Amino acid sequence: MAMLAPTHVSEFAADVRESLTKPGQRELPSKYLYDEVGSALFEAICVLPEYGLTRADARLLEKHSREIVARVPSPVQVAELGSGSGKKTRWILEALARRQKTYYYPIEISPHALAACEKELAQIDLVSVVGYEQPYLQGLRSVAESRDEDGHLLVLFLGSTIGNFDRDAGEMFLREMRDTLRPDDALLLGTDLEKAVELQLLAYDDPAGVTAAFNLNLLARINRELGADFDLSCFRHEARWNYADRRIEMHLLSTCRQSVRIPAANLRMALDENETIWTESSHKYKAEEIPEMAERTGFRCEAQWIDEEWPFAQNLLVAE
Ligand code: AVJ
Repeated sequence: MAMLAPTHVSEFAADVRESLTKPGQRELPSKYLYDEVGSALFEAICVLPEYGLTRADARLLEKHSREIVARVPSPVQVAELGSGSGKKTRWILEALARRQKTYYYPIEISPHALAACEKELAQIDLVSVVGYEQPYLQGLRSVAESRDEDGHLLVLFLGSTIGNFDRDAGEMFLREMRDTLRPDDALLLGTDLEKAVELQLLAYDDPAGVTAAFNLNLLARINRELGADFDLSCFRHEARWNYADRRIEMHLLSTCRQSVRIPAANLRMALDENETIWTESSHKYKAEEIPEMAERTGFRCEAQWIDEEWPFAQNLLVAE
């Protein structure tokens, strides 16, 4: 049994219970994919040839970091939402540290990822790293409240993590973010762009089965932490392209009729053959959608850079 603070266990248990029992499609929240095993599997996904997203994101940052940094006000502190291992962020921090001593605040709910990120980036000269193990908006508020009168913020929201939100929720999230910022603060937003459906499906259902393991690990985690008895051999990973909502959906498909017990969530449920549990959405965007979204949420899109190999955009939004 994992050693977790009781409050964490009960929050996880309550979320699992709620999302699995709501009427209609069963779900599990995608943020729980990232325990220690899940975070390691995600790192492996990022080096799969079929998953070009992370490399495109990193290439754009490497190629354009000087120009990005030249367009943000000074002095500026950097906050990153969902830093992961922090590898891609190095380019931005190095470019900034050439002009000023730089504070970097990674905000991350996974303590393992946060530790890796602090280790990866703490050695850059003239960069100080202070991690926040908090949900995104809460962490961003903490950072925003503790800065000087005249200090500006550059918020990094990379890797198309915004794609996990439904479109409306994503816009609401941008608006809430805008409310914690000052005019001229900047948000660098990474967004994966629509591409051929076969390519998108392969990116989320790779032949080596790494993404399948990443998805199935969510059930293994519920077994480990909530004492459940999911039999992983009776579930299959499934990636779908939802044409109406322009998103990839990951599901876990029950290959037979079965019943599952989750003691810590006080739940017993029956799953039909072919019934699925929906675990993640990854929305894809058209390049021209981003400036429109920016306008509707209190930003303007100052610049956009698109990768030539894997359609992906870095968007520099400035708070109005
Ligand atoms: C880290 C949320 C951007 O949606 O592409 C990768 C997660 N899921 N493969 C994504 C993920 C399956 C990833 N994000």
